[in-house]
Amino acid sequence: MVIAGIVAGGSGLRMGGDLPKQLMKLNGKPVFIHTVERFLASSLIDVVIIGINPQWHKDTVQLLQQYLGNRTDILTTDGGADRNGTVLRIIEAAEKTFPITDEDILLTHDAVRPFVTEKMIADSIQAMSVCDICTAAVPVVDTVLSTENGMTAAAFLDREMLRLVQTPQTFRIKTFRKVYHSLDENERITATDVCGLYCSKGYSVYLIEGSSFNIKLTYPSDFRTAEGILASQ
Ligand code: CTP
Repeated sequence: MVIAGIVAGGSGLRMGGDLPKQLMKLNGKPVFIHTVERFLASSLIDVVIIGINPQWHKDTVQLLQQYLGNRTDILTTDGGADRNGTVLRIIEAAEKTFPITDEDILLTHDAVRPFVTEKMIADSIQAMSVCDICTAAVPVVDTVLSTENGMTAAAFLDREMLRLVQTPQTFRIKTFRKVYHSLDENERITATDVCGLYCSKGYSVYLIEGSSFNIKLTYPSDFRTAEGILASQ
């Protein structure tokens, strides 16, 4: 079974505004609906589980009903305190609902990245035949420097060795449980990214080709960019 886990539990503080950014409209439709539709359109996905911000539970469920109607291939669960917490809630919902086997795969994806493609979905699933976890990533186009004080450069990094991490991030649910159980309390609290977690435990994190169009809506100006991308597709 292949499950898409859409993390939509955030508050969008950097975006500002009255609504969390995943509920804001892009070309007349909430951002997370655009994202969910991409996964529903894929024949490779069996079910979509959305981890939603509990404070916006009612609104989110109402929007799902309004735009997508009653569907048996969409489940919702309340998200956690951070992104990883929401991923965990999605996994718990999957385990509660389905008899999860060693082979079952979860593609986790940001609700606010509405331009995921069928190729990214297919590449992610295919990569699971040779790895335990993979993430979409893109090369870095700008020169990157590190700084210790925010005023002066400490070092210039080799761009060829750097990638920007996107989603989908994909792994087997049973393996995730094994990795998660191996973490101590502190590691569980400080973990910010599932791929980072696997990496710290010695797993190879495979890279699949992301895209400069696969943007994460973060700041208000990103909506202008997203409108442009939609218009060009
Ligand atoms: N996310 C989540 N649960 C959380 C926090 C974030 O599911 N508790 C999700 C967001 O909804 C988003 C994705 O993780 O789809 C990427 O996170 P980010 O862009 O940081 O979203 P926010 O946390 O909402 O934004 P901000 O950091 O500006 O508050």
